[in-house]
Amino acid sequence: MAQTHLPLAPQRGYGETTRKDPWWLPTLGTFIGLSGFIVYMTWAGMQNEHFSYQGYLSPAYSPLLFWTDPEGVTGLAGAERFAYFGPQPSWWPGAIPFLPALLILWAPGGFRITCYYYRGAYYKAFWQSPPNCAVGKPHKTYSGERSFPLIIQNIHRYFMYLAVVFLFILAHDVYLGMWFIDPATGAKSFGIGLGTIVLALNVTFLSAYTLGCHSLRHVIGGFKDRISGAPIRKSLYKGCTGLNKNHMRWAWTSLVWVGFTDFYIRMCSMGVFTDIRII
Ligand code: FES
Repeated sequence: MAQTHLPLAPQRGYGETTRKDPWWLPTLGTFIGLSGFIVYMTWAGMQNEHFSYQGYLSPAYSPLLFWTDPEGVTGLAGAERFAYFGPQPSWWPGAIPFLPALLILWAPGGFRITCYYYRGAYYKAFWQSPPNCAVGKPHKTYSGERSFPLIIQNIHRYFMYLAVVFLFILAHDVYLGMWFIDPATGAKSFGIGLGTIVLALNVTFLSAYTLGCHSLRHVIGGFKDRISGAPIRKSLYKGCTGLNKNHMRWAWTSLVWVGFTDFYIRMCSMGVFTDIRII
């Protein structure tokens, strides 16, 4: 049979494309959104004050493993009741600042960084690899995620297990957010404030994001030839798939709300916002 050899099209130069749509817009949005979130959460995690108010605990500090109040900063008042293991351990080296948020933020941070959706988004936004589909990239080679260092991204499935545990912890925080302390007597009473709603929405959005995870979907639906033979698992799989279809939307909604929840509690603690008591 006669064969025809067609020359390969030359590789596009950086940013070259025939696309007419504003392809750079989502890439820029991702860059600004993720950069802003990382800067804010790093700043918030290093403040070590104003992360609690009444029964509210910022998700940036939850779970609070230890509490510390080295200089008696006012925003820490009452934070000790959230701590699982009491005050800062005595063996902690004095030369290293004790920042409880940084003891835990690696888990949700690692979960997001290795998320299949975010990978696609930040490979484009930060590494320009490529800047968007059918747009020329600045790199000549790409070894993919089957070799070092990107093969580490496969750790995502283990971060997923941790992220599910965090959902239970954050749900418990909503319960704690229903208890208000009378500053005069110290007595606790049940109630619901705007902050309780903010915390409840936080765990709701995070659940929608986490429970739609590709890895979780595989754990639920995998290992079986016919899922129709396992009705409970099939229902869970359908629920997971439903959330997974909007994974990007839940990824961004939960990301923004985590930041906002910390901001809201911080502002209440600083006296800038007055928390509205609904019940
Ligand atoms: S794939 Fe996005 S959270 Fe698992």
